[in-house]
Amino acid sequence: MENRKIGFIGVGNMANAIIGGILKSGVPAEQLGLYDLLPEKCQSLGEKGMTVYPSAAQLARSSTIIFLTVKPQNFEEVLEEIRPEASFDKIYVSIAAGVSTGYIKRQLGGEYIVFRAMPNTPLLIGKGATALYCPANASKEAFSMVKSFFESCGIVRQVNEEAINAITSISGSSPAYLYLVGKAMMDYAQKEGIDPQTAKALICQTMIGSAGMMIESEKTPDELIRMVSSPGGTTLEAMKVLYDHDMEGILQSAMQACTKRAGELEK
Ligand SMILES: NC(=O)c1ccc[n+]([C@@H]2O[C@H](COP(=O)([O-])OP(=O)(O)OC[C@H]3O[C@@H](n4cnc5c(N)ncnc54)[C@H](OP(=O)(O)O)[C@@H]3O)[C@@H](O)[C@H]2O)c1
Repeated sequence: MENRKIGFIGVGNMANAIIGGILKSGVPAEQLGLYDLLPEKCQSLGEKGMTVYPSAAQLARSSTIIFLTVKPQNFEEVLEEIRPEASFDKIYVSIAAGVSTGYIKRQLGGEYIVFRAMPNTPLLIGKGATALYCPANASKEAFSMVKSFFESCGIVRQVNEEAINAITSISGSSPAYLYLVGKAMMDYAQKEGIDPQTAKALICQTMIGSAGMMIESEKTPDELIRMVSSPGGTTLEAMKVLYDHDMEGILQSAMQACTKRAGELEK
């Protein structure tokens, strides 16, 4: 990876998270380049030694790895701008929801190497979950390098591109469902007169601990539920209400709607 220039087009939330991880993993700031429509967005990173380019085309000319980190609706203009700089020696990495690698290659005008990733916002704190599609024309070295960028801010799992829309509902958008669970629990705690900071700490640690149990124990979610549910006890009363309202069905309908929307947006 030495001397490879890594460029980011669009320096928003996700780009900042990935850049933070890459820097922490020991890649020198001088190896990174940035371009955003608003130069202010690049200012503080530029002060750390990253090159700030005046256009997407100039960034694309000087970079061998190009992260496409703009919103899906800005892809058309960005790809048009960097098309003259397209090269088979470069690696493109898109993180946009609903933008296929086929579309990117068509807009760039050739069978270029295009990775597609579906990260999530916990990348911002180094605890992201990224699903990564590796194209058939990428070398093993290219795959491990791109994977390592995302691993610098969380876990990575390799997936087929066809799975990305469903994965958007599993890990891309799903932090929102979990925040809603957290919010509902905090609102309830407040109604019961519990100090909000205390409630937040207890609820969040419970979410972290429960996720840890799902990962570390050999038990299925149903077995873990049984572990908390003593006969005639409190948890069973709560679970009865959740089952009566078909909480599982509601969540799955939400995920289905998410996947469907990702498919509708697909370019
Ligand atoms: N946020 C998530 O949970 C999440 C999860 C998975 C994947 N993603 C994907 O990640 C991508 C980035 O999301 P984000 O939340 O980081 O968005 P963001 O914060 O809006 O960042 C995008 C940046 O690109 C800039 N931009 C727009 N048009 C541009 C152009 N033509 N050239 C250069 N820069 C341009 C935007 O400027 P303006 O603000 O001025 O438009 C903004 O600074 C999206 O494609 C999204 O689908 C996001």
